Amino acid sequence: MAGLFISFEGIDGSGKSTQAKLLANAMERAGHDVVLTREPGGSAGAEEIRSLVLEGDPDRWSAETELLLFTAARRDHLERLIMPALAEGKIVITDRFADSTRIYQGTRSGDLRQMVDQLHDLVIGHEPDLTFLIDMDPDIGLSRAKGRGGTEERFEDFGADLQHKMRAGFLNLAQQYPDRFRVIDGTRDIDTVAAEVLRIAYEAVKNRKSNA
Ligand code: ADP
Ligand code: TYD
Repeated sequence: MAGLFISFEGIDGSGKSTQAKLLANAMERAGHDVVLTREPGGSAGAEEIRSLVLEGDPDRWSAETELLLFTAARRDHLERLIMPALAEGKIVITDRFADSTRIYQGTRSGDLRQMVDQLHDLVIGHEPDLTFLIDMDPDIGLSRAKGRGGTEERFEDFGADLQHKMRAGFLNLAQQYPDRFRVIDGTRDIDTVAAEVLRIAYEAVKNRKSNA
């Protein structure tokens, strides 16, 4: 049986990691075979690229080089982890996937969006079955993300204006791909969000069974 590929998307600090983990735990408890992963990263090679791209001087890479690094990381993640797990019928839950590149790289340099799409078609060519967009006002997301600390401040440091653009970009993508996107109000408390996410994920599991 083919697996199920679920992604979480949204601006920094919206609660993606929290919700991805809760969903993975709940599905595991229900007896499903689950792989929880994240981007950039998720495989050994991609995790190395993650530190190259998220740490250090923000001007270290040109926008084009950065896009290539994110895409190279995704290709490795897909080859080594995601595709093999799906082929074994597992549920793969990833914290960010290609929609993040469409929005982050595509929004920061508007003229890059075409290159983002071309590269995706050329070397990735896969979309999740289900994408949760955890949506919220960026001012809330930013203060949550800042509270978390750590050394990967690079993208969060771009500030509120950019995050507002990202939010609008994600909502646009959700309209563009209504079949796989579900927009979730991330301003509610963690358990309320998790319950809605779990209900929708189980619907997808049921549909997968009836389509199999
Ligand atoms: P993301 O992965 O989208 O950047 P996280 O899941 O790391 O977001 O959450 C950012 C911070 O906000 C964490 O400290 C987390 O505990 C907290 N948080 C997550 N979801 C909620 C929520 N629904 N309400 C309040 N705080 C939350
Ligand atoms: P992540 O660890 O998910 O950050 P957060 O938990 O704060 O949301 O992702 C790190 C940063 O990398 C985040 O600011 C978004 C950025 N990013 C891109 O710019 N392009 C991409 O393709 C991906 C996957 C992430």
